[in-house]
Amino acid sequence: MMSYFAVNGGTQLSGSVRVNGAKNSVLPILAATILNAGENIIHNCTELRDVQSAVRILSHLGCGIKRQGKTLIVDSSTVSRCDVPEALMREMRSSVIFLGPILARCGQVRLSTPGGCELGPRPIDLHLSALKKLGAEVTLDGGEIICRAGSMRGRDIVLSFPSVGATENIMLAATACAGQTRIINAAREPEIEDLQQFLRTAGACISGGGKSEIVIEGGRSFGRVEHTVMPDRIEAATYLCAAAACRGHIELNSVCPQHIATVISILSDAGCDIKTAQNRVTIRSADRISALPPVQTMPYPGFPTDAQSQLMAAACLAEGTTVFCENIFENRFRQSGELVRMGARIKISGKTAIVDGVRELTGASVRCTDLRGGAALVIAALAAKGESRIYDIEHIDRGYEKIEQAYMSLGGNILRKEE
Ligand code: UD1
Repeated sequence: MMSYFAVNGGTQLSGSVRVNGAKNSVLPILAATILNAGENIIHNCTELRDVQSAVRILSHLGCGIKRQGKTLIVDSSTVSRCDVPEALMREMRSSVIFLGPILARCGQVRLSTPGGCELGPRPIDLHLSALKKLGAEVTLDGGEIICRAGSMRGRDIVLSFPSVGATENIMLAATACAGQTRIINAAREPEIEDLQQFLRTAGACISGGGKSEIVIEGGRSFGRVEHTVMPDRIEAATYLCAAAACRGHIELNSVCPQHIATVISILSDAGCDIKTAQNRVTIRSADRISALPPVQTMPYPGFPTDAQSQLMAAACLAEGTTVFCENIFENRFRQSGELVRMGARIKISGKTAIVDGVRELTGASVRCTDLRGGAALVIAALAAKGESRIYDIEHIDRGYEKIEQAYMSLGGNILRKEE
């Protein structure tokens, strides 16, 4: 059986939707539960395929896990292994985040190299060189990474690029190092701050999360922790782009407006009327949007690469030409070919995409190429005239919990079907 979305496009979206807990926050936090040999209560954990994969890795390592609604309770007192087998590593491209915490907890770790993914090669050189700098012995052997803690101790680590995953891995590994670790040119994504908050509640001494220098005083003992995961800024950005494409009027609840400031500002420039309150954003897009100012993806606080595809779906229907420049990942325009099948006019040259807006898209049969590209196809199909079928939606399920239900509640005509 294969699932697909059947979409009958062209309806305006209206109503309100509650944004879930952030995928990119819950994954490192789940990995971090290994650090404290005890109970971790994590609220606002969305039911995503990537979260299920992280849970499978935790249970393989020996943790006890219970789910109560949106709360996951992880008992890490029973960790009994320090390896992650290849099959589990392959399920989720960000599973390398387990490297730092397993090393910190067990003194050694063995996992298979993550290899490539749909967005291009996934180097982890920054993760490994930082661990070496902290004193870990790192061996690469036939597709496996083996790390031993050896005589790890805190040091200054300068990142040549503010990698999100590397920053998180260093934060997690450094908790086990005696002395001080400073991460210089750290990633400043809000998810880093959320991880810092989790670690502090568990007893870690860490500061600077969200800024470009993070300081960790390692070697503290960890205890029970209860934490609520921050709202998903990319899910929020996705709905804003959908409203812009479908001339919608929607309200997002449980959202942190400053985390999506760049997305709000660009959509406002395109003519959307956006209002923010403490945990709420409303968007009204009454007319066809105008072309967007040039979109350059950048590390936070720049425009997020994870929202680029969804914004492109909206730009396909704008009046005028929008230029996208993707600076973070190589293969992030893969959905553009599918958008073209729906009538979009897109030209790609290297890391630049030029989108000439059209008045109307038409429904088509399309395939998701990756998570956010898939979310973009759903937006285009909701805005298009006529029926679309969207295949390979398991990509979308990695990062959105039942996205069709959110759109249905906004009046979108979308159903999950089996074939
Ligand atoms: C995280 C997010 C992902 C988002 C990305 C950028 C999670 C689970 N995933 O991914 O959704 O798109 O941030 O905001 O949080 N790089 C290297 N060497 C390394 C590490 C990274 O060259 O050792 C390169 C990558 O190939 C990529 C760039 O740095 O081109 C950004 O990667 P990074 O910030 O590490 O992203 P992730 O943590 O993998």
